[in-house]
Amino acid sequence: MLNPLAIALPHSKVAGMSESQFNDMSSLSAYFSTRRSGRPRNMISPGPSDAQIEQLVATAMRTPDHGKLAPWRVISVASDQRDQLADGVKSAYLKEKPDAGRLELEGLDAMAHEAPALLILLSVPVESSKIPLWEQELSCGAFAMNLLHAAHAMGFVGGWITGWPAYSADVRNLFAAAPAKIAGFIYLGSSNTPLQERPRPELSSVLSKWVHEAGH
Ligand SMILES: Cc1cc2nc3c(=O)[nH]c(=O)nc-3n(C[C@H](O)[C@H](O)[C@H](O)COP(=O)(O)O)c2cc1C
Repeated sequence: MLNPLAIALPHSKVAGMSESQFNDMSSLSAYFSTRRSGRPRNMISPGPSDAQIEQLVATAMRTPDHGKLAPWRVISVASDQRDQLADGVKSAYLKEKPDAGRLELEGLDAMAHEAPALLILLSVPVESSKIPLWEQELSCGAFAMNLLHAAHAMGFVGGWITGWPAYSADVRNLFAAAPAKIAGFIYLGSSNTPLQERPRPELSSVLSKWVHEAGH
């Protein structure tokens, strides 16, 4: 049986590719076949300005959206608000885990301070709509991917992170009330280290031809 996590070198245009060729903007197809996220902890300035954030969110809004519900919101956390974010996340964590250790809290503190720009992407479903919740959440996932593409098109790197804070109602309440959910923390900036490939599945573990069995 094929290992689904084997690096897909035989099928991939990234075979033999040097680190600097990730997010190759020489053509649209080159970009898509070399796309890589950055790691928030490796992101340094420059990051997008407020005007660039407006532009990349406007770009990401061109996302498939059944029912034209726009079930997504983006909240930009300014660099001078990172301490407040860290305090909020750590308070929420301590409420849930009063015995939290120093390292756990330091990890949350770091998460709140990484990268020059941080966007909170919220899934905000319209509950009264006949469009299934699943489809509204899928649209939010597509929005996140579009945000990353838009940021890469501007020459930045992006990273989509969740972790414990994304599933805490108290952290969510820092930004929005239910039924909103945190779909991700989208970090944006410039990588201080060359991007490296990560394992990709074998194409054959993802793509197959339909075998229709009569009677089923
Ligand atoms: C919904 C979602 C949540 C994620 N959360 C984390 C996370 O908390 N920590 C992490 O290291 N990577 C997380 N990732 C993975 C990274 O965003 C990234 O996709 C991964 O490092 C692979 O890199 P690539 O985008 O270049 O393929 C998450 C991805 C998704 C789609």
